Formats: sequence, structure tokens, C-alpha cells
Amino acid sequence: MIADYVQLTTTTVLFIIIPLLYLIYYRKFHYFIFDQRTKVTKGKTSRGKCPPSFPNGWFWIINSCDLKPGHTKAISYCGRNLVLFRGTNGTPYVLDAFCAHMGAHLGFGGKVCHSTCIECPFHGWTFDGETGDCVLSGVENKIIRMADKYEYHDIENCTPVPNNDNTTNIYLKKVSEKEEIRLKRYICREINGSILVWYHSDEKLREHPLYEPFDLSNELKMNKMQPRGESINYINCHIQEIPENGADNRHFDFLHQSIIDIIFPFLKFHWTMISERATNPRLREIMVHPHPEVNAYKMRLLDTFINDSNRRFLNVLSLNCYIQIFSKHKIFIFNATGFQMGPSLVYLFLWSPYFQVTFFQTVTPLEKFNQRLMHRIFSTKPIPYWLSTLMLMGEVKQLFSDMNIWNNKIFGAKLSYNMKNDADKGLHSWRNWYTQFYEGCHEHESKSLLCRSLAYPPPQLFSLSSKLSICLTSLLPIDIRCSSVHSFE
Ligand code: FES
Ligand SMILES: [Fe+2]
Repeated sequence: MIADYVQLTTTTVLFIIIPLLYLIYYRKFHYFIFDQRTKVTKGKTSRGKCPPSFPNGWFWIINSCDLKPGHTKAISYCGRNLVLFRGTNGTPYVLDAFCAHMGAHLGFGGKVCHSTCIECPFHGWTFDGETGDCVLSGVENKIIRMADKYEYHDIENCTPVPNNDNTTNIYLKKVSEKEEIRLKRYICREINGSILVWYHSDEKLREHPLYEPFDLSNELKMNKMQPRGESINYINCHIQEIPENGADNRHFDFLHQSIIDIIFPFLKFHWTMISERATNPRLREIMVHPHPEVNAYKMRLLDTFINDSNRRFLNVLSLNCYIQIFSKHKIFIFNATGFQMGPSLVYLFLWSPYFQVTFFQTVTPLEKFNQRLMHRIFSTKPIPYWLSTLMLMGEVKQLFSDMNIWNNKIFGAKLSYNMKNDADKGLHSWRNWYTQFYEGCHEHESKSLLCRSLAYPPPQLFSLSSKLSICLTSLLPIDIRCSSVHSFE
């Protein structure tokens, strides 16, 4: 009898309690969470008149762990086809995708060589990722290849080059002799587990970023934070719609109902928000928070991340979340200090008496009206992995409400602002701030060739642990599923 009891207890502990504890705390829930309902229609809906589709700035391209040394990837963003590769020296490089010889795509079969170079799969011309120069293959000291340049006299109508004796038909004319061959190169930064690429419509500024993305390493180390989940969604809208949402404080109360609102109708989330340009000399005064610990944290963030070289490109947000019980008692839940940097990066630092979380959000325009949105969560070690994932799900659930609007709205070139109200005044000011990122883009976009679409990578097969987490998340009252397990390290 006792033996049976001992056996039952041992079996329960071994096969139920320990695996459950492992799952609850130690299992690393590094997941992609994606919205299966989003249909990317590639901008078929008319959006009305819009600013240019590809503003100047830093854009997130890929996670560091998805590009091993010596590997190449074909990528397309900002209407361009590019090749991304990691040299055997460990550095990532981005070049124009099409070979200067006869146009082969270097991302399909190109080989990494000489530490920083990529060799074309067609006839072996080699391009240096450091400079974009075409260098003589197999030569270690990188001598730049010289070649004559030819182009069609009239490629569309195929008329020959007029010549004096009219004896031969020549269609290709020499445009330059012995010219150095090179491809456009794009500046990359590898930072906090991501590879970011700088895009600027002005050729002179393509190689000289105007500001630098934040390095969160110290902040994450200081707060003992780790990456704990990521979500990627594709959206059909103009890029500006997405960051503009962060500065739109009125929509929170209408669009972002929470699960708690539905389950406990007497509990209401209440939001307040401030959005201000970092160039405002009164920024610190405006951002002061009544909660002393939040205030100290916020002021430290302002001092750490804003400097004279990036101030112009930053907009600062402060979002407070309260729970209101029976429309009376307000309980402070969290404050988020957000930095909108350039047209596409957002760093959000959440401070709460109960937890501390950091989000990194980016939007990358792939083609016109086709955006890739990435959300990553970093949380403190004591927060279990499953809870971090749940927090990310909470954020992504809010995102789905926004996506429903973005996927279907027009841009809104003509607006009806109520300037007596602070919310619309803020949006007006925010649009004026954001417009700086379009400088020179219209001319560049109308001249340059837009890219061929690349097929999106097929979804990865679900692993056993993903299936398990799908079962678990199915029990939750939210419509999100986890797909493949994904490690950021
Ligand atoms: S097309 Fe690249 S070497 Fe010929
Ligand atoms: Fe929103």
C-alpha cells in the first residue's frame, strides 16, 4: 500500500509536477507570434494622396542570429533589391543586389570570399562589402576592376546607333572607357541582436548616417533584462500611419479595449499620454512624473539617450496606464517612456511597481503600402518566460485593433483637426516633425526602379514545444498563436 503510494507520488512528481514547473518557469519561450488573419494585399486599396513611401532613416532588416558568417540573403526593402551577407570576419554587409557585369542577383548563389567580399554566381566577379568595389578575384590586396561601360542606344524601340557609313547595325554604345566598377553599398549596424540598414535618398548621405540607433546593451545589463519574444506582422498602409499611432492619445480609449474590460466591466483601463519633440528646451519639465521612482527612471532615460546629434530626430512619449474601479478609484499600473527615432524605430521603456519591461518596435517599408512590423520584448529575469510572452501577446492584441484601421484607411492628406483640443494639436505637431524624414525622397522614388517582389520565406514547421504552447495559448481568451521557436542569442 505504502509502496503504491510512493510510486504514485514519484510518478506524479517526475512526469507532471517537474515538467509543469519547467514549462512554467524555465522553458524559454522565444517565439514568433504572428497574426494569421492579416492578408497582405500589396496596396490594392486606394489610399488617396500620400507622402513618399520610403522615408530616410534606419530600418530593421533581420535578427543577427539569422545570418551566420559566410552566409548570404536576398532582401528587399524601401523598394530596393539588395544582398545581405556576413563576411567571414563576422561583419554584415549590404550591397545592391544586381551584379554590375550582367545583372545576376548576388543573393541567389553568391559566395562569400576574401573575408569581406561576395562572388557573383554567374561569372565570378567579386564585390567588396566594405566599399562596394568590384575587386579582381583571388587577389588579396583588392585591386579595383576596370571595365568599359556600354548601354543600349534605344532599348525600348531597338533602333541602332546612327553611324557614318551605315554598314553595320550597332545597338550598344560605349559610354565610358576603363571605369572603376562598383555597386552601391549601404551602411549597416549590428546592435542589440538586430541588423539595421541606413537608407537615404540623397546619394551623399547614403554613406553618412545623420544619427545612430540606440545601443540598449548597458540599459538591459543594468536592469538584468533579456529578449523574451518577438512578433512580426505585415500591414497594408503607408509607413507614417504606424508611428503616428503612438502619438495619437485619443485613440487609446476607443480602440484599445482590454481583456479585463470584457471580463470585469467595472474595471476600466484609463490612459493619459504626452508626446513632445526632443528639441523642446522644456522637455524635462513637460515629462515630469508625479511618481518619484518613475520620474527618476524617466529623467535618467532622457539623459542617457538624448544628445545633441540625435535630438532633432527624436520624439518623446510618456504613456500612463491606470485601472479605474467603478469609475472612481484610479490605480497606477505603469508608465511607458517612448523614444520615436527617425521614421521607423521606437524604444519603449515600461516601469511599473510590479514589473519592468522594454519593447523595441520597428516598421520597415518593403514596397509601397506594404510594411513589416516587428515587436520585441525584453523583460527582467524574475519575470517567468511564459509571463513575458503573455505581455507581448497583450501588446500584439492591441496591435491587431490598430491593424484593422491601418489596413483599410486612406492616408488623410486633408485633415480636420480640432485645434482647441490638445490631442489634435499634438498630432498636427507630430506630422510636422515626421515630414523631415521625406526630404528628397519624392524625386528619388519617381526616378528609381522599384524592386521585384521576393517571395516571403515559407512558414517554418512547428516544433513539439511550439505545438504545446499553441495548446496552452488556445486556452487563453485571445486569438494569437505562437509559431516556430526562435532564439535571439
Ligand atoms: S553577371 Fe555577375 S559576373 Fe557576370
Ligand atoms: Fe494603437
